[in-house]
Amino acid sequence: DTRDPTSLRTPIVAVLGHVDHGKTSLLDKIRGSAVIEGEAGAITQHIGATAVPLDVVSSIAGDLVNPDDFDLPGLLFIDTPGHHSFTTLRSRGGALADIAILVVDVNDGFQPQTLEALDILKRSQTPFIVAANKIDTVPGWNANEDTPINATYESQTDRVTSRLDESLYKIIGNLSDEGFSADLYWRVQNFQRNVGVVPVSAMTGEGVPDLLAVMMGLSQRYMKEEMEIDVQGPGVGTVLEVKEEKGFGTTVDIVLYDGTIRADDTIVVGGQNDPIVTDVRALLQPRPLAEIRTESRFEQVDEVGAAAGIKVAAPDLGDAMAGAPVRVVRNRDVETVETEVQAELADIAVDTEEQGVVVKADTLGSLEAMADALEEAEVPIVRAEVGDVAPRDVSVASTAEDPKQQVILGFNVDVLDDAAHRAEVDDVTIFTDAVIYQVIEEYEEFVEEIER
Ligand code: GTP
Ligand code: MG
Repeated sequence: DTRDPTSLRTPIVAVLGHVDHGKTSLLDKIRGSAVIEGEAGAITQHIGATAVPLDVVSSIAGDLVNPDDFDLPGLLFIDTPGHHSFTTLRSRGGALADIAILVVDVNDGFQPQTLEALDILKRSQTPFIVAANKIDTVPGWNANEDTPINATYESQTDRVTSRLDESLYKIIGNLSDEGFSADLYWRVQNFQRNVGVVPVSAMTGEGVPDLLAVMMGLSQRYMKEEMEIDVQGPGVGTVLEVKEEKGFGTTVDIVLYDGTIRADDTIVVGGQNDPIVTDVRALLQPRPLAEIRTESRFEQVDEVGAAAGIKVAAPDLGDAMAGAPVRVVRNRDVETVETEVQAELADIAVDTEEQGVVVKADTLGSLEAMADALEEAEVPIVRAEVGDVAPRDVSVASTAEDPKQQVILGFNVDVLDDAAHRAEVDDVTIFTDAVIYQVIEEYEEFVEEIER
């Protein structure tokens, strides 16, 4: 292998926003444009992510991106479904994503999950831009497929542009209310200080060239140093999801942000109890679109390098947690790597008190976010765990001395049947929601009710 041991990895771009605001459509559009440009083969579909190499970015963005101006290899987009919190995307030291696109529907404006995403971006200090999506739905819009925004602006009537501007300024105002100084992206000089708003349509592709150009420019300008990794080193990543997969048992979908993972590696994965030490059985990628009808949805690969999304099949992953660290052992002591994983897990651990509420969340990152929010609301926590609400959670909650603490607060989790039954018997109240501050609001109302 003659590759330079140190080189630049692909920046990881999280695409987030409220349900139905167009995150997936935006990525579909980028993939679709690549197909039209004859570059379909160049885009690789990863587990939970889409890798778009620089030359494809450039062919979609046209004059806006000259590949000679960049040395980053492209962009790796992670789609975060509305029901799945962006908080999973954590890594050692904060955010897994290097940069983010917050998608906001121009008609719908700011919604609960938009606010939640902003809050997380703020806390993790992730640089981001706003894609003001669905501009084609402005009444009277004259669509110009796949064109940069200034070209399509020029072909709209004054009435149409002033309507769009009104919606855009509303979004800029909302950002300002949340403490972000924002402006239309072409007016932004310093993207570290100001948030750029890019008007786009995931349907017609208008503004997509601008969006890619801004993301590429932002990464190159402000993130280049962070992209310098030892590309051949032992892999480091984060678990996005723990999933049963037919023929493979329990698997973990991970995002690798450093080094490589190979099909014969031993790995250490953060678990509910001790770190899990296991041998990779298979590394799985989705099959290319053309082969989707073959028997298995997956293709086995021997090795992948950061940044990448990959499904890892290995024994003993039943206890693995979404949001937990994954590390490749390779030529090192297993104990050393176990200690590293343990240290990362300890970083995330929530401080608990003798008395307090029970908290459950779908991932380590969301558990951390819940704990932060509860701390702000001055609500003590007695037990905090990743996973669905189970009977033992009810037992713990039922022993609280204070009736205000005989509760379980769940974020993005289900309540197991026997737990629901048990809660009724034991007079434990369970609050669950897919938006953190809504769980907390509901709980605060409950407390007011008791105190009244
Ligand atoms: P979740 O994954 O459920 O959070 O939603 P999402 O943000 O991925 O939204 P998705 O891409 O699934 O789009 C939701 C709906 O909006 C779909 O019906 C899309 O066709 C539509 N849509 C998305 N972008 C645009 C757009 O730019 N213009 C128009 N007219 N419709 C759009
Ligand atoms: Mg989606």
